[in-house]
Amino acid sequence: MHDVSSDDSLGPSTRASFANATQSTTIVADGTQAATMSCPTKAEASGTACVARRALLVTVLAGCLGVVGTNTADAQDDAPGSDERPQKADLLVFAEGDHAGEIIKPDDLKAGAPPVRAWPMDPNSKVVRKGSRLNELLLVRLDPAEIDDETKPRAADGILAYSAVCSHAGCTVTAWVKAAEGDKPVFKCMCHNSEFDPRQSGQVVFGPAPRRLAGLPLQMAGPSITVAAAFVGKVGLQK
Ligand code: FES
Repeated sequence: MHDVSSDDSLGPSTRASFANATQSTTIVADGTQAATMSCPTKAEASGTACVARRALLVTVLAGCLGVVGTNTADAQDDAPGSDERPQKADLLVFAEGDHAGEIIKPDDLKAGAPPVRAWPMDPNSKVVRKGSRLNELLLVRLDPAEIDDETKPRAADGILAYSAVCSHAGCTVTAWVKAAEGDKPVFKCMCHNSEFDPRQSGQVVFGPAPRRLAGLPLQMAGPSITVAAAFVGKVGLQK
């Protein structure tokens, strides 16, 4: 099945329409609080897997509906550069919530807290690169002592950025739950339960995903978190 969500050949408007068809809710590490978990893609919405998942998520549906509007595209989605991949020196802004569009500062991220959804932003034009969902990011802050040697060079003060697009079937990964195997929280894609460990370069630690989440190297530039280099690895379903 062709996944329109990760098809970068489509125009921003088409992808934005897709984005509007998704819904969001959240589960945090202790499993007791609804916060920002991704709902299925529009393409999957007619599938049996989705139907089963809907049943599983019935208790958080109200949370989904409450934040549908956060994915709504606006005119800036069509601004030049909005669908370009993150560039070195890009800033990062909140993708949702009361502070959507505001620059994310290091103090906005607490060690071990659930990930923050973010977009890169051109520091000069101020264009937020939300014209492609392949640019959506998960930002998480970890104790630097937990981060392995391969991952450390991509971190800025323990802050790591990963693509929010699952490498299995392109759902948005937003859950932050205790790992199925282990006692630490990990990213989880609720479509088919793949788990990714941000301490290990986004490696798959559970579920059917074929490869790790793409990582976006970060660095500090004065008081700001900025992009240090292009994505490491393929984003979502990219070949
Ligand atoms: S899309 Fe299947 S586990 Fe994420």
